[in-house]
Amino acid sequence: MDTYRADTYGQRVAGVYDDWYDVVDPATVPVLAELGRSGRALELGIGTGRVAIPLREAGVSVEGIDASEAMVARMHAKPGGGEIPVVIGDMADIAVEGEYALIYVLFNTFFSLLTQEDQVRCFRNVAGHLEPGGSFVLECFVPDPARLAARQGVRVSEIGEDALRLEAAQIDLAKQLITSQTVLLTEEGLKLYPVKIRYVWPSELDLMAQLAGLALRHRWASWRKDPFTASSTGHISVYGCAQPEEAS
Ligand SMILES: C[S@@+](CC[C@H](N)C(=O)[O-])C[C@H]1O[C@@H](n2cnc3c(N)ncnc32)[C@H](O)[C@@H]1O
Repeated sequence: MDTYRADTYGQRVAGVYDDWYDVVDPATVPVLAELGRSGRALELGIGTGRVAIPLREAGVSVEGIDASEAMVARMHAKPGGGEIPVVIGDMADIAVEGEYALIYVLFNTFFSLLTQEDQVRCFRNVAGHLEPGGSFVLECFVPDPARLAARQGVRVSEIGEDALRLEAAQIDLAKQLITSQTVLLTEEGLKLYPVKIRYVWPSELDLMAQLAGLALRHRWASWRKDPFTASSTGHISVYGCAQPEEAS
């Protein structure tokens, strides 16, 4: 996948994204609204607006960044989606003006940044756009050691009467990279949807935050704020500006 770029995933998946990922945990928007209501909010990798549109309806002034024009066009075609300003660009750059009460990145989208350098750059740029007391929220999976140990795998995502959806992945443990293809088989033929991510353990995220002058405020296992434990498979992490004595 040498030609894979920041917009590859979105440009390929935009037409099916909302059908495949139509369920959003209903507790997501209230938590983000609580954190963002006092000011502006910015979603990194805003996509088709699955969360941004209901968050705006909840009274938060939402903006976005996304690499894919096709994903953003889907959002802008939806009721309320056209009112959400979006910068087309790389979320590592945070090429926006001003400060935000809330910057958030959902559904493992932070892992779309494929090098540690870009991920640290994103943290630093986010920190530069957070207002005092502001929050940076990430929703991520916790890497599964069994999946990593296998170094490759194929799993079935959907079996219907007219379609089969498979995900085939290879894992580079040294670079923490998962390179995968979602393969959609129908009677009309086969379609490929490439995805590349660099997975990160929660501890590495905390270190990136520290490098950016941020500190962990909360880590929950779900949007219902269940405690994060050793057996949690995902996390919601909330970072804020470190106090002077907390900063490195
Ligand atoms: C899995 S989708 C998530 C969309 C939305 N946040 C949601 O929860 O439905 C990932 C989104 O991130 C965007 N994306 C991927 N890499 C990016 C990058 N480096 N900079 C900006 N956007 C990126 C993709 O185009 C896509 O819209």
